[in-house]
Amino acid sequence: MSKILVTGGAGYIGSITTRHLLAQGHQVVVLDDLSRGHRHTTPPELLRIVHLQDTAQVEPHLEGVDAVVHFAAYIAVGESTREPELYFSNNIGGSLSLFAAMARMGVKRLVFSSTAAVYGNPEKVPIPEDAPFGPVSPYGESKTTVERILGQLDQFRGLRSVALRYFNACGAEPENGLGEEHEPETHLIPLLLRAIESGQPVQIFGTDYPTSDGTCVRDYIHVSDLADAHVAALNHLMKGGASAQFNVGTGRGETVMEVLRVVEEVTGKKVPFTIAPRRDGDAAELVADSTKLRRTLGWEPRRSELRQIVEDAWTFFQRGRG
Ligand SMILES: NC(=O)c1ccc[n+]([C@@H]2O[C@H](COP(=O)([O-])OP(=O)(O)OC[C@H]3O[C@@H](n4cnc5c(N)ncnc54)[C@H](O)[C@@H]3O)[C@@H](O)[C@H]2O)c1
Repeated sequence: MSKILVTGGAGYIGSITTRHLLAQGHQVVVLDDLSRGHRHTTPPELLRIVHLQDTAQVEPHLEGVDAVVHFAAYIAVGESTREPELYFSNNIGGSLSLFAAMARMGVKRLVFSSTAAVYGNPEKVPIPEDAPFGPVSPYGESKTTVERILGQLDQFRGLRSVALRYFNACGAEPENGLGEEHEPETHLIPLLLRAIESGQPVQIFGTDYPTSDGTCVRDYIHVSDLADAHVAALNHLMKGGASAQFNVGTGRGETVMEVLRVVEEVTGKKVPFTIAPRRDGDAAELVADSTKLRRTLGWEPRRSELRQIVEDAWTFFQRGRG
């Protein structure tokens, strides 16, 4: 059993990963400022309300900690283009503050929530981990910068880290009452479900991409499988594994219209939608090459069939939201 500090553990992916860590027998402490997360997602005895940039407040929570899983960040690409300083300050500044506290407290293992956004508009799809960085938003830039800093801290601080570059996290664990509760919501599946509920059409951005039906292709990964990847990454670090970067996706792509059709099948309802022009910076196709994660850490997605993802999201949407 290890003691794990989870930053951003009151958010969507962090709260579900916390459940997986507890199920593995780990002791968990959650640090979150609740700026974007929800109190009800975390067992109250585990939650410490701390803003990561307050290094002195972070430090005591690292006492006896074996490894940190670092989710805390702002995550909305569009918002980051309107408020880049906020994203650099929270995502880079917050990470630096955490890393300084870890150095002082002698904690030398970290799993970092990175993103496919570090690749921008990749030349090659499926995208391998050695594709060049090319972020096209302040959000993507903030994650790229933290990955670069982690490279230096590996060398000069002996900090061993695994950066997990998530593709499109989705789905829910309705059995734990946990799922997506972002506000504002920017992710496709909850937006489609909200459109059904409200009757207000959802916008589909671009139908003239070079894809099978003209809409963007993305790699949808169930949040439970994502949580498993964190457990595998932690095991790797606890066994003395070296720093590494891994894509976390299924290697399969689905178009926006394919997702919309599965939502209609699962819910038995029509999704009202309108067609809007392409958005700046949206790549036609983002699909992970996840061979490295499968081969190195033995990870396999178990719950990421699109129908299963949508069924879980729909069950949570109907009865699970706090
Ligand atoms: N959701 C996705 O599809 C996706 C894709 C790629 C990467 N990621 C990354 O995964 C991580 C988690 O994403 P999520 O969807 O769970 O987001 P989320 O907004 O649900 O959770 C983030 C949590 O971090 C907390 N937080 C933010 N800044 C903080 C700070 N300075 N101090 C303390 N707490 C702070 C928020 O209150 C929130 O609870 C993020 O780092 C995000 O960049 C998410």
